[in-house]
Order: sequence, then structure tokens, then C-alpha cells
Amino acid sequence: VSGFVSLVGAGPGDPDLLTLAAARALERADLVLHDALVDGRALDLAPRAQRFFVGKRAGRHSIDQATINALLVRGARRGRRVVRLKAGDPFVFGRGGEEAIALAEAGVAFEVIPGVSSALAGPASAGIPVTHRGLASGCLVLTGQPDRAWRSVLGALPPRSVTVVLMMALGARAEIARFALDRGWPADLPAALVLGATSPRAWSWRGDLGGLGAAEIPADCKDLPGLVVLGDVVGVAERIRTEEVPRDHAIA
Ligand SMILES: C[S@@+](CC[C@H](N)C(=O)[O-])C[C@H]1O[C@@H](n2cnc3c(N)ncnc32)[C@H](O)[C@@H]1O
Repeated sequence: VSGFVSLVGAGPGDPDLLTLAAARALERADLVLHDALVDGRALDLAPRAQRFFVGKRAGRHSIDQATINALLVRGARRGRRVVRLKAGDPFVFGRGGEEAIALAEAGVAFEVIPGVSSALAGPASAGIPVTHRGLASGCLVLTGQPDRAWRSVLGALPPRSVTVVLMMALGARAEIARFALDRGWPADLPAALVLGATSPRAWSWRGDLGGLGAAEIPADCKDLPGLVVLGDVVGVAERIRTEEVPRDHAIA
């Protein structure tokens, strides 16, 4: 018997934002390999499955990608239904593409179950529409991490042309703000931080590019994943949500 692998997006946090296809795959799974950002309540949907945490956790050694790929292939070859559960969408900064290639090359049958990416759902949950007629005709999703690759993209972008969502960029927020200001982006361009979106601990800050570098994240939120959002659409949150969104918590 040959097994099967499902590369599944778990959505941004709240298990209610799992897709029906994801819930079905979890229900049938024999083995679930999951990341750090996946909510425990999503794992409860896989009652029969053996579960393995294969994600990165600050300060601890993490399992390398080649080992994860090998675990997926081995599980399937043993005839098991394997779910690889990844935060958000598996193909958005999730290395899901690498896993799909490894499975294809190994001749293992697999499927991709897309997920709701935090890149779009995060801003939405904070009342920020990533596109808005008259304000933003597009949305650019960038990573704030490897080799500061965001520099060449942001540097080439006309200010105010599109909404920019930066993932894995909280630590680089001051550097990103400085870079954009140095290139003539206006200090009053609306900016936001959206942390732990759709989770019970969600926290957000809204201000402007001039204040972004000094925007403080409360100590009890520092472990949360978060997004940096730049663009006039951030101002829309003011008009469409009033009470639900935690407002301008702390600006140093
Ligand atoms: C390795 S990437 C994975 C992204 C994921 N595949 C997705 O589509 O959402 C991890 C980054 O996603 C973002 N992220 C994930 N979940 C989030 C959430 N609930 N709220 C805000 N940002 C989140 C953060 O920028 C975090 O550093």
C-alpha cells in the first residue's frame, strides 16, 4: 500500500479559518508533522494521528528541511496518510514548494491544500483592506529577512503605489522605516503592526511611517508572529472598525 501526503495550510491562527479540505485531511491523517505557529486546536481535528512537532522554536535546535522532507517520504512509503500542517498557506514563505518538489522527485503521491495566508488575513483581521479603490491598486508581500532582499524591491517602488505587507520583519521595522524615509517616502504614510492575528492574543498598532521605528511591542506580545503593513489602506481601519481593534497601544 502506498501512502499519501497532504501539504496543508492551517490558516493564520484561529482554527475556524481552516478550510473544510484541511479539516477533512486532518480527520483522516495517521501522521501529522506540524510547525510552531499551528494552533493546538487544529491538531485536535486529527484524533487518530501521531503528531510530530518539526518547527523552529526560539533557542532550540530545529529539524532541518532535508530531514522533514525525508520524514514525509518515509511516512508515505510506509503506507500512511501524512499531513504536513503549515501556518497560513503552505506556499507563502513556508517552504511548501521545497517539500512538494521533494515529494514529486521521490515519486510520492501528494496534494496541496491551500490555506488562508496571514499576509492577507492578518491585515483584514485588524480592519485593514489590503486593496481599496482609490487608495491601493495592489498589494506586495515581502519578507523582511534573508539578506535584506526587501531593500532592492522597496527601493524600486514608487511611494504610495501599492500596499506593502512585510512578513518576518518585526525585528527589521526600524531599519525598513529608515530606508523608506531616506528614499523620500512620506513620514505620514499610514503604517501598522499586526501581531498574533486571529488568535486570542492578537495585538495591533496603527500609526505612520515616521513613528514605525519607535513603535513599541508590549513585552507580553514579543513572542507573537507579526506583520508590518505600509500604505494608505491602514487609515481605512479607522473608518470601518472602532471598538474591536486594539488601538495605538504604545508608541515610545
Ligand atoms: C515562515 S512565515 C509563514 C507564513 C505562512 N505560510 C502564511 O501564509 O501566513 C512566518 C511569518 O508569517 C507571519 N504570520 C504568521 N501567522 C501570523 C499571525 N497570526 N499574525 C501575524 N503574522 C503572522 C509572520 O510575519 C511570521 O513571521
